[in-house]
Amino acid sequence: MVAATSTKDGWSSRSAFILAAIGAAVGLGNLWRFPTLAGESGGGAFVIFYIGCVFLLGLPLLLAEIFIGRAGQTDAVGSIKRVARESDVSERWSLFGGLGAVAAFLIVSFYSVVAGWVLYYVGVFAADFGQAVLAGDPFRGALEGESQEQISGRMGSLFANPALLLSMHFAFMGTTLFIVARGISGGIEKAATWLMPAFFALLISITIYGAIVGDVGEAAAFLFTPDWSKLTPEVMNAALGQALFSLSLGVAGIITYGSYIRQGTKLGSTALAIALADTGVALLAGLMIFPIVFAVGLDPAAGPTLVFQTLPFAFESMPAGSLIGLLFFVLVLVAAITSSISLLEVPTAWGVGELGWSRPRSALVFGGAAFVIGIFCLLGYNILSDFRPLGFWSIFAETDILDTVDGFTGKIMLPLGALLTSLFIGWRADRKLLERTTGLSQGAFAIWRFLLAWLCPLAVTIILVTGLFPSLLG
Ligand code: PFF
Repeated sequence: MVAATSTKDGWSSRSAFILAAIGAAVGLGNLWRFPTLAGESGGGAFVIFYIGCVFLLGLPLLLAEIFIGRAGQTDAVGSIKRVARESDVSERWSLFGGLGAVAAFLIVSFYSVVAGWVLYYVGVFAADFGQAVLAGDPFRGALEGESQEQISGRMGSLFANPALLLSMHFAFMGTTLFIVARGISGGIEKAATWLMPAFFALLISITIYGAIVGDVGEAAAFLFTPDWSKLTPEVMNAALGQALFSLSLGVAGIITYGSYIRQGTKLGSTALAIALADTGVALLAGLMIFPIVFAVGLDPAAGPTLVFQTLPFAFESMPAGSLIGLLFFVLVLVAAITSSISLLEVPTAWGVGELGWSRPRSALVFGGAAFVIGIFCLLGYNILSDFRPLGFWSIFAETDILDTVDGFTGKIMLPLGALLTSLFIGWRADRKLLERTTGLSQGAFAIWRFLLAWLCPLAVTIILVTGLFPSLLG
């Protein structure tokens, strides 16, 4: 067993795993979805409730997934089967590993499309910064001379251009596929150890910049002063769902990454480090974006276009806006790529572990298939704009293709995966195996299992039911 573990491809150290898992967790969810939701939901109350969700629900689930991977030592389905066997319960629990692999596969298909928009903005700002340098004024604002309509209009013209969307999607998915095909220590770990330090350096620099040129006080007040009347059932539901998405839970991603951990790693503190880093980045993203938005008097509740339209416009009137805009979109791109890698890794590991495929073949099959689904998602903004894939279902009646895949995975598959994980570990997994593998102290173990057995199933069932029947929220 020990020999098998040491010859297998895996993380070279505990910190490599932590870095890769933080890379998986920190993504578009932190830099795009979190500020969007916080802005739309009125700030403080959402943020505080979100933090509660992360530590009471997300952290226990995160540890549960790391445990399954660590104990199982193979892809999600195989890992759950092994834990089930060692716990003397039905191997059919492994179904949720399969469900997770399908969810991760579907998420990466549209994630790559959205990351493609980011890539486009990297190009826009790189060109703009290039011109600024050539003009001898590298620290000028971004996209000088363009009106707000022109800057906002860039997103509309991008969406109207299927060939451009497709090439961005192709470039992003191709890069993801290439890294996954190279394996854990030679591909994913290398990418994480190069990209994550660069990510943090950029994040801190832009946050300091925001603090200098923008109004941090107003942003902090917006993000942290709760107006509890804004904490509606919809907002709570969104916060719960966001906590799962942001920590990469419910899609077997962390199970898969956890299976490459070598023996002797302390799992509890590892899970805590990942949850703290992910939440810290989401909050820093808020403290980076809102001061800039407030400085120019723009609307924090702009919705999904906050990052793509509001922020570029804000950069126009900022000193060095051209350079900062470029750095900002590079930052988002880096975060997106380390997450998409972890998404594609889930079905890829499944193909390797359960079908006996080689890693490059598995990555190519699933990455290729996800690329095709992504094409439909991006055509939903132009040629197929009237197509409603699940139009017969009231909750998706008005939803375009990308939002349908996003909604179906986020509202249904992800909570279902999280629910089954918490039931499996909270009720069915063998206590001795859990204690031995996690190495938690008695007190921490009792709290962990209580949260998994009771609070997680209850809260996640609420997300699921209210997601399926929104009329219940009134
Ligand atoms: N946690 C990622 C984000 O916040 O963008 C999204 C994600 C990545 C979800 C990997 C699931 C996953 F397995």
